[in-house]
Amino acid sequence: MGHIVMMGRKTLETLPKRQLPGRVNIILSRNKDLQIPNCTVVNSVEAALRFAAMIKQPGQQLFIIGGSEIYHQTLHLASRLCLTVVEVWLAGKSNCISQYFPDFNKDHFNVENIALYPRDGSHGFHTIEYVRTKFTGASQPKLDIPFHTV
Ligand SMILES: NC(=O)c1ccc[n+]([C@@H]2O[C@H](COP(=O)([O-])OP(=O)(O)OC[C@H]3O[C@@H](n4cnc5c(N)ncnc54)[C@H](OP(=O)(O)O)[C@@H]3O)[C@@H](O)[C@H]2O)c1
Repeated sequence: MGHIVMMGRKTLETLPKRQLPGRVNIILSRNKDLQIPNCTVVNSVEAALRFAAMIKQPGQQLFIIGGSEIYHQTLHLASRLCLTVVEVWLAGKSNCISQYFPDFNKDHFNVENIALYPRDGSHGFHTIEYVRTKFTGASQPKLDIPFHTV
């Protein structure tokens, strides 16, 4: 709570309250006329990052919370990945998945925290945090704020 979240317009539309309350919500859309209550709509990743850097209060962090389109465009900039891995047996239904978290080079990260959780029904899951140790030319941090992908 209290941090800044950035997400694509399609992810916002899946949220029951059409925002994450108690956080600054930055929504990416190419629609220049789009207005969403209690959210700031921006038209590019660069504009989102500039806006986040401008409004950031001490201690605030920026969380990129998806979806797939946004992860693909920003993952190379993230200093930390906070992943929840859900183990699902798809039994031949993998063709029903249309969006994926991008592949990333694990050699560029250290694993900082792993937490295992009891199975929830038929699903096992764990959380894992990767902290970036290697920034390549394309992944030089452009912000002086912690920038996480969730
Ligand atoms: N499992 C998870 O952790 C997780 C997390 C988040 C989301 N999701 C799921 O992922 C799905 C949505 O992901 P998605 O990849 O389809 O969509 P998305 O990334 O949430 O949103 C895509 C939209 O963002 C806007 N956009 C993308 N790049 C932009 C750019 N460079 N500049 C300006 N606007 C840009 C466009 O909006 P306009 O069309 O308005 O121009 C585009 O249609 C949902 O089903 C959601 O539930 C899963």
